[in-house]
Amino acid sequence: MTKLWGGRFTESASAQAEAFGASITFDQKLASVDLKGSLAHAQMLFEQGILAQDEWTQIEQGLKQLEATVADHVYTLADEDIHMNLERLLTEQIGPVAGKLHTARSRNDQVATDLHLWMEQHVEALTTALRELQSVITEQAEQHIETVMPGYTHLQRAQPISLAHHLLAYFWMFERDVERLTDNQKRIRKSPLGAGALAGTTFPIDRFRSAELLGFESIYPNSLDAVSDRDFVIEYLGIASTVMMHLSRFCEEIIIWASQEFGFIELSDAFSTGSSMMPQKKNPDFAELIRGKTGRVYGNLMGFLTTMKALPLAYNKDMQEDKEGVFDTADTVLQSVQIFTGMIESATFKTEALKKATMQDFSNATELADYLVTKGIPFREAHEIVGKAVLYCVQNGCFLKDLNLETYQTFHPDITEDVYPLLDPVQAVARRTSYGGTGFAAVSEQLELAKQHLAN
Ligand code: ARG
Repeated sequence: MTKLWGGRFTESASAQAEAFGASITFDQKLASVDLKGSLAHAQMLFEQGILAQDEWTQIEQGLKQLEATVADHVYTLADEDIHMNLERLLTEQIGPVAGKLHTARSRNDQVATDLHLWMEQHVEALTTALRELQSVITEQAEQHIETVMPGYTHLQRAQPISLAHHLLAYFWMFERDVERLTDNQKRIRKSPLGAGALAGTTFPIDRFRSAELLGFESIYPNSLDAVSDRDFVIEYLGIASTVMMHLSRFCEEIIIWASQEFGFIELSDAFSTGSSMMPQKKNPDFAELIRGKTGRVYGNLMGFLTTMKALPLAYNKDMQEDKEGVFDTADTVLQSVQIFTGMIESATFKTEALKKATMQDFSNATELADYLVTKGIPFREAHEIVGKAVLYCVQNGCFLKDLNLETYQTFHPDITEDVYPLLDPVQAVARRTSYGGTGFAAVSEQLELAKQHLAN
């Protein structure tokens, strides 16, 4: 088959090389945005007097027809990529006038335009999915403001906290992810169209007009940069990696919490799997899988950063490697967010077990130290005294609330009856009234703020 670029060639391509160079197997995802880009380009050419009325009409109808039948297109490897496949289909549809569409355009600005348009849609979808997840988090948080649980550092029980506080910590991570995506859109909504192969064109095109038709916010001021920039992709891959890192941390906690050792959470059957051999098993497979998929999303970021690292200006075929990684990351991160949302929405937190865990540990030790401080003892000294009391308990197999007053007074004579209520984990949480702290009132305030962010 003759190539669209076949004029200066005398031999046909090696079949293996042809298949190796082709991107149609994966860039067919760009079909709709490619048609959209072509339509805007053709309209601009017409408005600028570069296409005649009847040429524009035929091209417009042909492109719209191709859009309407996009699911049935048959593409060929011989046509290499989506751009040339669609051009051939358009030619079959409307004849040689199709060849006028590529006036003042190159596949280099075409593919860059397509990717900008495709990413815009995807980032919008991902943002919506993250918003949905945040909303589910706030719903769970709402139910659990007064559910106390152990807070951890080093995965060692540290201080009791509100479960809502723990959940809302993730709300804010995803909030920053949404902020980053919103910022990324400024670079995505930038039009490379009209940059040509690298140097612009001799035709009197109007790049602002085609950008406007496509809903771009701005255009690249430099044609070389326009066709060779993939920063917006790398930035996205970085943001997607951060989203996966956040999901993965949350997944890790869910996996730990779902273990019998913790027993803090029960995942719904819909988001769990069984074992083919052990009938009793209920595994948090999907949390594990999301944690696992984080690896390939990081890999796509590192892979494409490396692809771009030594490319001279302007377009190089290396850049065709942008798409598979981006598509894979886009599918992975969007699905992960959606699956994770369903998993959290349908999970049951075991409030009794969470509370019980705070009664059988030393996470109230800070309360005792703070109590001694209110009696005028310097914090360092108080820390030492409480450390001794904890050691005594460890050696005698009890907890701080179990020590009687007589024993307490051997550690410090100023300890009186009023210490006991403070050792209660619920009190310990309630008393943390500082802004952004885990106190019930502070968490309620935080939840309101989270809801306001969602409403905007
Ligand atoms: N399939 C190519 C890509 O994805 C399209 C651009 C090709 N341009 C070229 N001059 N070979 O990057």
